[in-house]
Amino acid sequence: MGKVIVNDQMMERSQHRIDMEDRGYQFGDGVYEVIRVYNGDLFGVEEHIDRFFESAGKIKLKILFTKESLKENLNALIKENELQLGIVYMQLTRGVSPRAHVFPDEHTTPVLTAYTKEMPIPKLQMANGVSAIVTPDIRWLRCDIKSLNLLPNILAKEEAKEQGCYEAIFHRDGIVTEGASSNIFIVAKGNMITHPESHFILNGITRQMIFKLCKENKLSLVEKPFNVDDLMNADEVFLSSTVSEVMPIVKIDNKTIGNGQPGPHTKQLQALFQKYIQKQARITY
Ligand SMILES: Cc1ncc(COP(=O)(O)O)c(C=O)c1O
Repeated sequence: MGKVIVNDQMMERSQHRIDMEDRGYQFGDGVYEVIRVYNGDLFGVEEHIDRFFESAGKIKLKILFTKESLKENLNALIKENELQLGIVYMQLTRGVSPRAHVFPDEHTTPVLTAYTKEMPIPKLQMANGVSAIVTPDIRWLRCDIKSLNLLPNILAKEEAKEQGCYEAIFHRDGIVTEGASSNIFIVAKGNMITHPESHFILNGITRQMIFKLCKENKLSLVEKPFNVDDLMNADEVFLSSTVSEVMPIVKIDNKTIGNGQPGPHTKQLQALFQKYIQKQARITY
């Protein structure tokens, strides 16, 4: 849609050309973020920009701009493209340099790109719940980094799609880690449980917001490893992500979860999350 950001410039999307030797293109050598836009406002922008800088730091990628200037540029982009409901995608690569695995010399400047996209809230799926598959987590051991390397996630997501499912849930040696593009929560005996923050998962911004909401509302949410059996026999399962918010999962590998309907804990959290969005973005759902 319309304009894009390339480093500190705003330009028509058709004006931007990717160099064949951009390290993001050749190696996936870079990091990214997806931020929701509600009512023309970036949602959780500070948290997303903080994570973007953290991810870059973890791969020793130098950032030549400030968090404040990035935020200003993203806001200008949204305004220019007149985006009301959707997302901003941004990524930073290690720049353009003759192909070699080692880092390029220090004069190589990282390449920042960002664009906007209209994206509705998946209301129907949020009301009815979605299905998922379980698949081995074949990713590397730094899943805490929001890296451009997403091949295992892509393969898992495609497998889910082929089976008519919305998400693929990863397990590592039987322990459920997260979804291909989401964090996973179960409800068992009234307690909400999710995988502890570690290098096995991306600490989702939505996940962090859920923790905050649970604390404020005195709901029990614990970080604890759980296995595939716990998942399949949970009373409720849901996922969280920027794009899908709080999404009930009502069927996994063709087995019905609970009574096949979004459960009370999930619905309560959906309501709290929607209220939080409304408060932040001044919208009515
Ligand atoms: C692997 C993975 N885990 C978790 C998430 C959820 O993160 P967030 O809530 O910040 O969107 C994502 C989002 O894309 C993801 O790709």
